Formats: sequence, C-alpha cells, structure tokens
Amino acid sequence: MCNDELIPPQADMTEREWLRAGSEATAEGPSMRTTGRVPQWVNRRTLLGGAMAGAALTVLPSPGQSPASAAPRLGGPRAFPFPEHPNGKGEFAVLVTGDAGTGDEAQYAVAAAARDLCQAEGISLAVGLGDNIYENGPESDDDSEFQDKFEKPNSGIDVPWLMVLGNHDCSGLIPGSGGDPSRGDREVAYAATSRRWYMPSRYYSVPLPAADPLVEFFAIDTIPWSSYVAQLDPHYRWDGPYMREQRSWLDGALRASRARWKIVIGHHPYLNNGKHGSAGSYDGFEIGNYTSGVHLKDMYEKVVCGRADLILSGHDHTLQILEPTARTGGTRQVVCGASAKTEDGTAHFGHPAAWQNFSDHGFMVLKVSGARLTIDAYTVDVANRKATLAHRTHQTGPVAAPARTHA
Ligand SMILES: [Fe+2]
Repeated sequence: MCNDELIPPQADMTEREWLRAGSEATAEGPSMRTTGRVPQWVNRRTLLGGAMAGAALTVLPSPGQSPASAAPRLGGPRAFPFPEHPNGKGEFAVLVTGDAGTGDEAQYAVAAAARDLCQAEGISLAVGLGDNIYENGPESDDDSEFQDKFEKPNSGIDVPWLMVLGNHDCSGLIPGSGGDPSRGDREVAYAATSRRWYMPSRYYSVPLPAADPLVEFFAIDTIPWSSYVAQLDPHYRWDGPYMREQRSWLDGALRASRARWKIVIGHHPYLNNGKHGSAGSYDGFEIGNYTSGVHLKDMYEKVVCGRADLILSGHDHTLQILEPTARTGGTRQVVCGASAKTEDGTAHFGHPAAWQNFSDHGFMVLKVSGARLTIDAYTVDVANRKATLAHRTHQTGPVAAPARTHA
C-alpha cells in the first residue's frame, strides 16, 4: 500500500484554509476539517478497502492480546548503552533514519554513508522511524529479517536505536495495511535479544541523560490511528483501550517531562508535502472516517502541537524540514523516510518548508545542546555510498518550558 502508485494525492489545506476551517468547524468536530472533496475514484478505493478489511479477518489476533506497557524495560543483554554525557562538541548527536527495512542495496548504501559520519559527528544514539521490516513485518520474534534488514546493514553503528512501529511492521495478509497491530509485539520481543534495537514497549519515552534530561524522546505507535483497513479487533480501534491509554500516556508524559527539548517520534506525519499527504487527508480515500488519519490529526493537534519541539516521522520516502507555524503551535514537523526508498521528485502540497527533497535517498543528524537544536539533512549517492550535507536548520528556543523539578 505504501507504494501504491494508483493513489493520487488528495488536496490538503493551506495554512490559511486550515485557520479558516478551524474557526468554522469547531462545533462539528475535528473530522469536519478535511476538505470534504470526494474524488471520483473513491468508490473503487472504498470497495478495495472493504475487501482488505474482510481479508484481515483471517489474521486477527485475539481481542485484548498483549496490551502495551508504557514502562520501558532494559534492552537486551550486552545492549549498547545510552549516552550519559554529551560528545566533545557539547551535544547529543542522533542519527535519524526512516522506512529503511528493505534489505536492498539502497538501505546498505545509506547506512554505510551514515556510518562514516558517526565518529566525526560523535553520534551516540539512532532513531528508526518505522517500516523497519518490509513488506509485512516479522513472522516471529527471531525472524531472520531482523538480521537481513536491520543488524547487517547497520553493523558498525553501535549505539541504541530508538525504533517505532510502521504500517508495514504491523501488516499481515496485505503488506502495508496496518491491519494486524499485534505483529508489533514481535518487534518489542526482538528488543530483548538485540544490542541495537530498542523498543521496550510499543510506545515509550527516553530522557537523555536519564538523571537530568536535556532532551526527551517520546516514541509513539501511530498505526491503529491511520491504518489502511479498519481495526476489527476492538482493542486496537482508534477509540479502543490501547489508543486511549497511549494518548493519555503521551499527554501525561509531555506534561511531566523535565527535558528542555521534547521530540515526538512516530511513523505517520502530522503535516507532509509528499504524496501520502497530511494526517486527516492521507492518500485521498476514507473508510469509515478512519483511514485518512483524522484521529491521528486530532491527537497531534490536541496533545503534541505547541508542546513538543519536533515531530519526527517517516512513511513518505522523502526528506522534509517543515517550518513551525501557528497551525503547529510552534512545533516543527520533520519527515525522514528516504533511508531505503525514494519518491517521485514532486512536492504535492505546499506546507512551508525550510528545505525539502523528494528525489534522493538520505538521513538526518539531530544535534542537541542546551543552546540549540540543529538538524542536518544529508542526501546519499547510493552508487558511491557517500553522503552530502544538503541543509542545516537551527532552533534556539524550546516550544514549551520543562516541568519544574520537585525536590
Ligand atoms: Fe509507511
């Protein structure tokens, strides 16, 4: 589904349209903020989605299976340790990758280019923004795909990797559908045996350094809010217990965070100029007011915007550093999903961007100090396995003050 070229982009709202819609539609609820445009091909997509939902019946887990715990546990034996101190430049430097898990040459080339930078940049942490195991997630807790699509390509990048679930990680019969969230539990289980892969639960937070955090990462599971098929297991419905608990956890964790910088990492973006579009209008088709990501949009706007400094997402196989706006409450959306695949070279929407690239493979490096947050975007020449610094953006003031420390 992720690469479905048959899905044309749906018109997304401009910042001005969004502001106007917000004032007009307050009484109608967040779902009414979408454009309301009904493309002529929607019936075909709706029918297809119905077929998918029917097919998904055959792979459903039992209701209530394995609810996530928000309490992180330690990584696997001999797991690479989290950094306790900034590097020699006074920064925590973090490698950011997304949509990497193909096992193809492009993944190896991007990882090799990133590996070359690790020592020079003092990178001590990495992020994997979902779609870690294409095409439909691992078949077991120790599937060989973990080796072929993660450990081998990232060999030598010997740091903890904060991993989040993507739609391909949580698919069963239909690759990319996100129709089998329980598959994500296999990626949580794998963390117990890997030195790199950190996923103590399906959503979690990591403060750095732990004792007196400068930055805190909040890893979320966006899949049941934005899957291509309706969640038939009530546990994973958008308004079911799992998603209610996650939303409540994120709200409380952001409020309680003592970190100067707060960074939400989740596979699906809030805003996106790539072909998948933004939350609330993903891919231009809708099944039961669901697949467009309208409930994820509501969550981002009510829980994250104005409270986190960055949203780091993948899903679109592009590199985008969007500008903070009134719409985002000062939060910056970053899309970094080109670590194994690329897109069509075209910006489909017009959200203000500091820099964006729709053609090249690449990754980003986030540098965090008390004074500033820096985002370096690198493009990668796959044939030569070399990275080029394409853009650098700074932020000097956090969006929200940290929670006060209680002695
Ligand atoms: Fe995806």
